[in-house]
Amino acid sequence: MNLLEAKDITKIFGALTALDKAGLVVKENEFHGLIGPNGSGKSTLLKCIAGAEIPTSGTITIGGTDITTATSPERSRAGLSIKFQITAILPQLSVYDNVLLSLQAGESMGRLLTSKSRRSLDPKVLELLSRFRLSDRPDELAGALSHGQQQWLEIAMALARDPKVLLLDEPTAGMSPQERRATGELLAPIKATCSLLIVEHDLDFIKDICDSLTVLDQGKIVATGPTAEVQEDPRVKEAYLAHA
Ligand SMILES: Nc1ncnc2c1ncn2[C@@H]1O[C@H](COP(=O)(O)OP(=O)(O)OP(=O)(O)O)[C@@H](O)[C@H]1O
Ligand SMILES: [Mg+2]
Repeated sequence: MNLLEAKDITKIFGALTALDKAGLVVKENEFHGLIGPNGSGKSTLLKCIAGAEIPTSGTITIGGTDITTATSPERSRAGLSIKFQITAILPQLSVYDNVLLSLQAGESMGRLLTSKSRRSLDPKVLELLSRFRLSDRPDELAGALSHGQQQWLEIAMALARDPKVLLLDEPTAGMSPQERRATGELLAPIKATCSLLIVEHDLDFIKDICDSLTVLDQGKIVATGPTAEVQEDPRVKEAYLAHA
């Protein structure tokens, strides 16, 4: 079933048309990759879906509900979670507290004022730390983690509130090949409960983990469909390799 649908999205910045009637569909329990050359509009499309930008025209729905102009809390309630290109962890807090805070973001003020909240969320924090290979350092300051571990921490935080769709913008940028491989392994199990829309430059990484791909070039969709088909599309090879 279609879960997330972006239709005819146009985004104009001054004289620049960053997105020109672009769209994509992410199905339930699907990993969907968004690729394209620098400046092709990938982050802008992700931001429109996340609500960080409002499209000039076009519509975005989740499970049939229109969220084109919805607020952040409304998008979150609809099941959306995002990790942007720039890391948003709190470096002066412990690894544990970073995850705890992202869980508490869904709690009522009444519960936050009691210590119950922290105690009852403890198993979930530990489970997320374990899934993202951070169990051995809950008390370390998040800012002291390696670059790769900070990305994993942020993905764990983005998953804290059990989203239906996780949006990731270049999570493996700056990672070593080993960290990149590990990221693929860490993401794979989330498919049981969540869909993924992921922007990546590394075609090898993305084609290994994604069921389907959408290719943007200069704000327009060049191709979309199952990974095996899209990566063989001559227009994709041309658009991608010509600029890469
Ligand atoms: N807030 C903004 N104001 C003006 N122009 C913008 C803004 N955000 C993006 N752009 C422009 O829109 C175009 C698409 O940018 P976008 O960041 O979406 O590309 P991208 O595909 O994510 O690129 P990269 O691969 O470098 O991350 C670029 O020409 C960019 O300069
Ligand atoms: Mg980008």
